[in-house]
Amino acid sequence: MSGGAEPTVEVSGLTKRFPVGRTGQVVNAVNGVSLSIRPGETLGMVGESGSGKSTIGRAMLRLTEPSAGRIVFGGRDITHLPAKSTRRLRRDMQIVFQDPWSALNPRMKIGSLIGEPLLLHEDMAASERRDRTEALARRVHLSPEFLARHPSDLSGGQLQRVCIARAIATNPRLIVLDEPTSSLDLSVRAGILELLAEIRTQTKAAMLFISHDLGTIRLISDRIVVLYLGRIVEEAPTADLFERPAHPYTQSLLSAHLPADPKVRIARHVLEGEVPSPIDMPSGCAFHTRCPVAQPDCRSVEPGQVAIGGSGHMASCLRIADGGNIIGSRGAA
Ligand SMILES: Nc1ncnc2c1ncn2[C@@H]1O[C@H](COP(=O)(O)OP(=O)(O)O)[C@@H](O)[C@H]1O
Ligand code: SF4
Ligand SMILES: [Mg+2]
Repeated sequence: MSGGAEPTVEVSGLTKRFPVGRTGQVVNAVNGVSLSIRPGETLGMVGESGSGKSTIGRAMLRLTEPSAGRIVFGGRDITHLPAKSTRRLRRDMQIVFQDPWSALNPRMKIGSLIGEPLLLHEDMAASERRDRTEALARRVHLSPEFLARHPSDLSGGQLQRVCIARAIATNPRLIVLDEPTSSLDLSVRAGILELLAEIRTQTKAAMLFISHDLGTIRLISDRIVVLYLGRIVEEAPTADLFERPAHPYTQSLLSAHLPADPKVRIARHVLEGEVPSPIDMPSGCAFHTRCPVAQPDCRSVEPGQVAIGGSGHMASCLRIADGGNIIGSRGAA
């Protein structure tokens, strides 16, 4: 990884509101998210369903128009690029969706599906395209005999390999992976993660790996951002996040999802209550309605980011200053 390299993509203050019918209300899907990903780096993004993960990924690729904020890709501000110019960006930024069945045209053969990005974006003879398509199939460990088949002949895991081959076909600089293993059988998930890890070391692409599952994201990410109601509540290098989770929400996620790890000193507890509606966002710290260590001012004061150590570990909680952010510790209420 290239520590000092310019970020491939830099998002600042990203905000997305969706109108709710004609009620005049809005869904506050993303609320001032800032992040950046460097070449060769994989950023994991974790959060419960509805926390705004897909919307952030889609906005980064200009598949959805942000309500506010800025997106800089390869040093260029693409926030308000007109649709006809974004088409040229497509070869440089790709996405793999959760559901490979709906991502692929069932009438096309696998070979044409893998070769399609080359047809759209690269000027080459048909024979060269055929060679490149075969090489792509090999890279995703898909037997060449599948190239003449249709999507209905393949399993979910094989179809996701086709989607990954399409995503890497034009050597993009940014790949968004939106829950790429969530719809697959448990038995094939590990294989897809291994493939993505391979691709990560082979390419210099920046990757955004989205998942609601911390265990999955831990395996592939260099850094992780934790999302709650459209805000980043914690950001850290992967090892730091798992060893010293600072935000009470991150501690709750870890406590619920991970087997006991003697190195991690977090109190076992269960996150109570429902995620509040993004139509009616809680005031102050949005997590205060469920936070086991909340204090009265959490209802009115919106916490800013606090740096923890020198590794780029940041969390947004009012109680970090007095140590009361650690659930189950003596400083906690
Ligand atoms: N096209 C849309 N129209 C209205 N609301 C949307 C739309 N897309 C997403 N939302 C809402 O925005 C919030 C964030 O959604 P999403 O980004 O899909 O979250 P995640 O991927 O984390 O599950 C949710 O409340 C969702 O219902
Ligand atoms: S600011 Fe308050 S409510 Fe929010 S996470 Fe910290 S302690 Fe909990
Ligand atoms: Mg999603």
